[in-house]
Amino acid sequence: MKNSIKKIAVLTSGGDAPGMNAAIRAVVRSCVYHNIACVGVFRGYEGLIEGDFTALDARSVKNIINKGGTFLKSARSKEFKTPQGREKAYKNLKEHQIDALVVIGGDGTFNGAIVFNNEFDFPIVGLPGTIDNDINGTDFTIGYDTALNTVIEAIDKIRDTAISHSRLFLIEVMGRDAGDIALNAGIGAGAEEILIPELDMGKERLLSSLKRSKKSGKSSSIVVVSEGDQIGKNIFGLASYIQENLEDYECKVTVLGHIQRGGSPSCFDRVLASRLGVGAIDALLAGKREVMIGLVHNKVVPIDLKESLKGSNKIDSDLIRVADIISI
Ligand code: F6P
Repeated sequence: MKNSIKKIAVLTSGGDAPGMNAAIRAVVRSCVYHNIACVGVFRGYEGLIEGDFTALDARSVKNIINKGGTFLKSARSKEFKTPQGREKAYKNLKEHQIDALVVIGGDGTFNGAIVFNNEFDFPIVGLPGTIDNDINGTDFTIGYDTALNTVIEAIDKIRDTAISHSRLFLIEVMGRDAGDIALNAGIGAGAEEILIPELDMGKERLLSSLKRSKKSGKSSSIVVVSEGDQIGKNIFGLASYIQENLEDYECKVTVLGHIQRGGSPSCFDRVLASRLGVGAIDALLAGKREVMIGLVHNKVVPIDLKESLKGSNKIDSDLIRVADIISI
């Protein structure tokens, strides 16, 4: 099998995440190490369809391990969802004599990869790159740790002004349908309450909890709200509801938004991306054709790409208990 992979292509797709550059770098350098030619594809599946390719060598990826975003750029391609789009992509890969594809992204990226592999039996390895940490088969996704650090830094700053003005802040964080960012950043930043999609708290319970903490002597409060949470979906509506029912607290809203996707990757994300990038080429050389490389119990492991989409890792109930206890 080793000799059948002579040239690969690498792309980043979906929402960018800090550490994607480090992952590309590891893929490229691992190719150089194994004497495999490597091609970078710009703008994810869009570039695959348009043949927007560039040859990459060890020096093409210098000085990027510390850079946020992705120098190959990213996109959410509508055309790749059509059979015609995928046909064009396949033709381009064949024309360039590319034997395998490494895709760095989240569930949308992996969905596309699975359909493509089914249609053309084209070898694909996925690397989990998303701040959401919502991929099955890996304890952490590339970018998640950096996003957590960005969030707690922002909340620490908001806490300063919340204390000065004795205010209650609702802070919306990303994560799509997963509450990992909210729960972990909420614990790390000492939030009073954390609203996550996996656990429907209900606004009445939130209100009584806030009333209780006000009674117990708290003069300001931080509530972290995951964007996918049912009652948090309309965070401004939630703020009005609290304001109407908790009059002596001034309630403010901060939506952190895309700040969470940017910035220099943390050391954890750089090391994770490097390990998974090397793991991708190892997997291809070992004859794997449709896998994702993840980190499980600190070991780099391949899992069937389809498995990666079978629901993200469940929220750890112990974390919820910890959050409840330490916010008393
Ligand atoms: O998947 C990463 C993510 O940042 C989610 O947390 C968020 O819901 C979504 O992407 C935002 O996507 P876009 O950048 O296309 O608005």
